[in-house]
Amino acid sequence: MSQKVRTALITGASAGIGQAFAEHLAQQGYALLLVARREERLKELAAELKQKYAIRCDVFAADLNDPKAPAAIISYAEKQGIEIDVLINNAGLSGKTAFAETPWEQLSAEIQLMITSVTELCHRVLPNMKKNGWGRIINLSSLAAFSPPGASLLYTGIKHYVLDISQSLDMELKPFGIHVTALCPGFTHTEFHDVMGTRDAANKLPAILWQNAEDVVKEGWHAVMKGNPVCVPGVVNKVLASTIRPMPVKLQYYLGKNMNPFAH
Ligand SMILES: NC(=O)c1ccc[n+]([C@@H]2O[C@H](COP(=O)([O-])OP(=O)(O)OC[C@H]3O[C@@H](n4cnc5c(N)ncnc54)[C@H](OP(=O)(O)O)[C@@H]3O)[C@@H](O)[C@H]2O)c1
Repeated sequence: MSQKVRTALITGASAGIGQAFAEHLAQQGYALLLVARREERLKELAAELKQKYAIRCDVFAADLNDPKAPAAIISYAEKQGIEIDVLINNAGLSGKTAFAETPWEQLSAEIQLMITSVTELCHRVLPNMKKNGWGRIINLSSLAAFSPPGASLLYTGIKHYVLDISQSLDMELKPFGIHVTALCPGFTHTEFHDVMGTRDAANKLPAILWQNAEDVVKEGWHAVMKGNPVCVPGVVNKVLASTIRPMPVKLQYYLGKNMNPFAH
């Protein structure tokens, strides 16, 4: 009997880490449902992956700042007869301007994109995963979740939330065959700093701090398949994470205040 082809829903697949996840999973024969705002990019990627790996690859253009987007994505999948077996909650960005100077609508959109929609998509894919007794979820956190506070406005706190909730979900869902991993990359070559407007400051950081998206994805995928709830990819990031975490709170505050390369 032929094995069922599993399908991965990847948000933020039009660039960077999400695009690298699409390539990595397509290579392994997964069918894909790609989501982001830039539909043309998604369509180009889908055409390329279908041609290269002979997989099914659907695209759904959605703005995850919109509270209706997660439900719309899942409803689209259901209408297409697609069962989501793998969820890569990857779409994200970082605001840069000072909290008090940033319009509430922008802050609220960041929370919607990286907290509410991440949590809602996890919730909405679970019934199917539980029914099948198999599921894999990767939520993109960041090394920022291990960093001193204040590294970047809401971003550090948001990524802390993603790190924590992923571990809680993993504890709850492992008995049902569902693994959840918080993937916590450090500086990764993507469009992230172009979008944030911090490319010049980012380019000044030493090369040793940087990883390629493909390496982050390989380690993250290996971690979720193995059942590791937290993955900090790369040796340098692992050292940084394990050094910062045990520091006294006062020292972390000092470092956050005085050593932030992206301070506004
Ligand atoms: N790069 C790093 O150094 C780094 C480090 C740690 C963690 N991360 C995390 O990794 C994840 C991916 O970032 P990346 O580095 O790959 O950045 P990227 O190259 O800028 O890609 C971000 C992706 O998110 C999508 N996205 C952004 N806002 C969206 C919205 N409102 N609705 C739907 N999709 C949206 C973008 O697509 P559209 O613009 O087409 O919508 C794009 O596909 C993020 O969660 C980020 O926080 C990145």
